[in-house]
Amino acid sequence: MCGIVGFTGMDNAAPNILEGLEKLEYRGYDSAGIAVLNDGIINITKVTGRIAALREKTENGELMPGTTAIGHTRWATHGAPTDTNAHPHLSNDGRFAVVHNGIIENYMELKSKLIESGYIFESETDTEVVVHLLEKYYKGDMHSCIRKIASKLKGSYALGILCTENPNKIFATKQSSPLILGIGAGENYFASDVTALINYTQNVIYLEDGEFAEITPDEIKIFDCAGYEIKKPVSRVNWDIQAAEKGGYEHFMLKEITEQPRAVKATLTPRIKDGKIMLDNLNIELDGISKILITACGSAYYAGCAGKYIIEKLCRIPVELQLASELRYSDPIIDNKTLLIVLSQSGETADTIAAMKECSQRGAKTLAIVNVVGSTIANLADYTLYTHAGPEIAVATTKGYTTQLTVLYLFAVYAAEILGRIEADEYSKLLDDLMSIPKLLQNTMDMNSKIENTAKKYYTSDSMFFIGRNTDYALALEGALKMKEISYIHAESYAAGELKHGTIALISEGTPVIALACNQDIKEKTMSNIVEVKSRGARVLAVSLNDDKNIAMLANDIITVPKFDSPFAPILEIIPLQLMAYYVAKLNGCDIDKPKNLAKSVTVE
Ligand code: AGP
Repeated sequence: MCGIVGFTGMDNAAPNILEGLEKLEYRGYDSAGIAVLNDGIINITKVTGRIAALREKTENGELMPGTTAIGHTRWATHGAPTDTNAHPHLSNDGRFAVVHNGIIENYMELKSKLIESGYIFESETDTEVVVHLLEKYYKGDMHSCIRKIASKLKGSYALGILCTENPNKIFATKQSSPLILGIGAGENYFASDVTALINYTQNVIYLEDGEFAEITPDEIKIFDCAGYEIKKPVSRVNWDIQAAEKGGYEHFMLKEITEQPRAVKATLTPRIKDGKIMLDNLNIELDGISKILITACGSAYYAGCAGKYIIEKLCRIPVELQLASELRYSDPIIDNKTLLIVLSQSGETADTIAAMKECSQRGAKTLAIVNVVGSTIANLADYTLYTHAGPEIAVATTKGYTTQLTVLYLFAVYAAEILGRIEADEYSKLLDDLMSIPKLLQNTMDMNSKIENTAKKYYTSDSMFFIGRNTDYALALEGALKMKEISYIHAESYAAGELKHGTIALISEGTPVIALACNQDIKEKTMSNIVEVKSRGARVLAVSLNDDKNIAMLANDIITVPKFDSPFAPILEIIPLQLMAYYVAKLNGCDIDKPKNLAKSVTVE
């Protein structure tokens, strides 16, 4: 996803911009650029490819003197990844430069009118209309100019702007895309997310839709959509710089896999006190809820798939799941008795935001489970429960997924107790089970310390099946996505009971099948499925409990998880699946932290 950064201070800005852009690389991009305002001139350098190329072209910024600058990493939406399409874009008269994250949905209409007015376009991007609108409507005051063009733009945008008539100033405004202001000493910043600012400051302001910031080295002024100056709270980011660094690991993904026990513990501990679950003032009238609808995208959706089982088991409330990209256009049957649970690590996923707004407008109460404080989804929700995973840099989520599932577990037990669906002794047992998850996650990791050897038997596969039943199937969904998105091996997750209805036709000699067989209630059925596929030549890698001799006899290979007699046991299964995906990708020499075509936060539709 695109990322924007801006800096204004006493030092040369270019090196700071380059460093900020590097911190945004994890978001995924294919070109980059920087614009520096110096002595009334805006100088721009753009590259197709990585920030390293931009460093080389600007000699680490030395070739671009000036203390006021904006920068951009572009994840191509409109127009191929080329230098011309890279941001920043410059107005015809050279007075304005713009960087943008989001999509201007009505750009074609605006573009044709601007061309009729004589403006010359260089790129294929939607963003370029902004810089020509600035030139067209600027009459000496940026506030009124921004308000004017904002009234014409449809879609999503986080905009960073330079103007030669406003030396030492950078301007920022947003609609639906994230934008954060950083407060430094004698210097100030803006960025798409905290990761780009954390090396400079932990004091940030979250800009909200329609607001506009005028930033100088000593002051940040913020105005509302009507143009009135407003005061906004300063938030303290509680990340430390090391948390956003690799910390000696080869990849962020491996670091974040190993952080999961700590992340889950940090998510649990503040919410279990004196034998009670305390959920951050979650005063939802649960009695009035007739249906829970869970919506999200990608891994967050699969966390919801796993969470459904526990909520229904404990609360006896029907739980539906719908992908956010489907839900937003499905004319959903929602009313004020619906609780919408929205899952999102970044809190900025466009489809999830749109689905949430759609359901909210139809009367649903919304509970957001997100990792990024102050994110759009967190701000939109009626109630928010944060996962305390810390910064997740790898595009492929790991601790984001397990902490989301942890919060769903917490919610299920909390709601079941309030609804009177569980007795005191069961409640107490479930709390003990919850508190034992971090240690068991660590045990699972220790138990699979040699999993790289298993990965060596599978990394040359050109396709894989992940099968399971009930909760094992839910975990198989996430396991297959992990494998696909970082190793680029086609992996299909299938309900094991469904295989005989068609898909088993694809099983032939040596086809790899990862069979999740941890759910003891239906293990025998899954064993039958393992026999079915084996009899057709499949090579079966089973995921089972560490004392399960029967499965070990059936499978070609085995990866194990500790025995955990609890409805929360499924969470342990994702650890070996994450590690398998990691080592298969590593053996294939893949770009594990920044997989091709992917972005960490998909802030466009
Ligand atoms: C997960 O590994 C992927 N990167 C992707 O599926 C992700 O889960 C999805 O885009 C949702 O992101 P979010 O949790 O930030 O909303």
